[in-house]
Amino acid sequence: MPKDKFEIQGLSGQKKLRGEIEVKGSKNAVLPVMASSILFEDSLKLENIPNIEDVFRMSELLEELGIKVENDNSGGITISSKGSLSSDLNEDLSRKMRASIILAGPILARFGKVSFPHPGGCVIGKRPIDLFIEGFSQMGATVEENKKGYIIKSKGKKLKGVNLFFPVQSVTATETFMMAGVLAEGKTILKNVAFEPEIVSLGEFLNSCGADIKGLGTPTLEIKGGNLLKAGGKSYKAIPDRLEAGCFLILGALAAEDLLIKNCNPDHIEVLIDILKKSGVSIDVSKNSIRVKNKKDQKPFVSFNVKTHEYPGFPTDLQAPIGVFLTQSKGQAIVFETIFESRLNYIEDLIRMGADITMFDPHRIMIKGPALLKGRELEGLDIRSGLAFIIAAIIAKGSSVINNIYYIDRGYEKIEDRLQKIGVKIERINN
Ligand code: EPU
Repeated sequence: MPKDKFEIQGLSGQKKLRGEIEVKGSKNAVLPVMASSILFEDSLKLENIPNIEDVFRMSELLEELGIKVENDNSGGITISSKGSLSSDLNEDLSRKMRASIILAGPILARFGKVSFPHPGGCVIGKRPIDLFIEGFSQMGATVEENKKGYIIKSKGKKLKGVNLFFPVQSVTATETFMMAGVLAEGKTILKNVAFEPEIVSLGEFLNSCGADIKGLGTPTLEIKGGNLLKAGGKSYKAIPDRLEAGCFLILGALAAEDLLIKNCNPDHIEVLIDILKKSGVSIDVSKNSIRVKNKKDQKPFVSFNVKTHEYPGFPTDLQAPIGVFLTQSKGQAIVFETIFESRLNYIEDLIRMGADITMFDPHRIMIKGPALLKGRELEGLDIRSGLAFIIAAIIAKGSSVINNIYYIDRGYEKIEDRLQKIGVKIERINN
């Protein structure tokens, strides 16, 4: 794994950034669509694909199965699942990326068999797969667990359409059973599903290629099973990354004089726009862009409480960046991370930078602001806290070094180039 670092010169709280910054295609929309290529009898063309490490890892996983992936490195990927394919997911690659689990549903539905390793722990929490195992069993598969992982086999030629109720809303479990249902025999009804925009985007694309999925964007999905799908030359265009847009908006509020965030869908981050406006941030929303401005004598923003929630609530993936925002706003805020239990670990580094944060338990913290942050050496923990550290380093006094930026490269394409263009002093140090 490369050991590159970022070196960032802080602005000491000055709001000086200006210009335009472009949002790339959504990682979490692209990964399941890449997995869905297994449901197709012909090849699939994808557009607006970010050049990020997770897309490279997913491409390698597909190639290990015998699937042909061609990346033109300027946003276009063609995937072809013709010929004989393996149904065993590569162990090392799967362990590196939790999202590899979304391949299990399409492989099992098409080939009647799949094997994959134990997903293991993860920096943001335990991340169990009980919903997947339970769902596959209900669809008529046998599940064998050994030291290495799982071997799942369909009893009949096809999986059986069933009624599944999810006790918790899960993004990748919803995507998995939506895709499994497309090739299953009969009707699959999924209740209490997640309805993040990435799930809707996947479902709409599958429908445009012959699938029959009803209820997209609601907590209940009804899927009529059938044969392999046909893209027929149609391409999938990735929706803009709402999490990247959200981070740029938070950065703009904290450090910009005038920033235009382009190629985004403001509807997908309505909750963030709403709370930032109420806190005093000046935001103008258009159909595909967001403008954030600060006055010369901008007063500190007002603190607020945050509780992470499934879409359309406040996303867990923006919890660390909003934590940085709250170190700069006036008052006292409680942040309640309800989805993952280890996603507040980033606060240790913020405290070392000078933030006033108290942890009550692994899910709840109190942030008092405003506090002057000082540049420090920081250790990237996961994709989302990595970008939160970039924001913290930009607003801090003095310079910071962020180690372990592989995590940032997993989710954000050439972030330093885009930040430099709006005035951020950031350099990548190759090691
Ligand atoms: N859960 C279970 N059992 C399961 C599956 C999930 O209990 O079998 C629980 C989880 O432990 C968690 C809750 O369900 O408490 C929700 O997790 P979910 O399954 O929705 O997470 P995920 O599908 O593994 C996706 C994103 C994450 C994002 C979460 C929450 C992708 C590829 N990943 O993960 O994105 O944080 O949804 O919105 O879509 C990231 O991009 O950095 C990232 C981690």
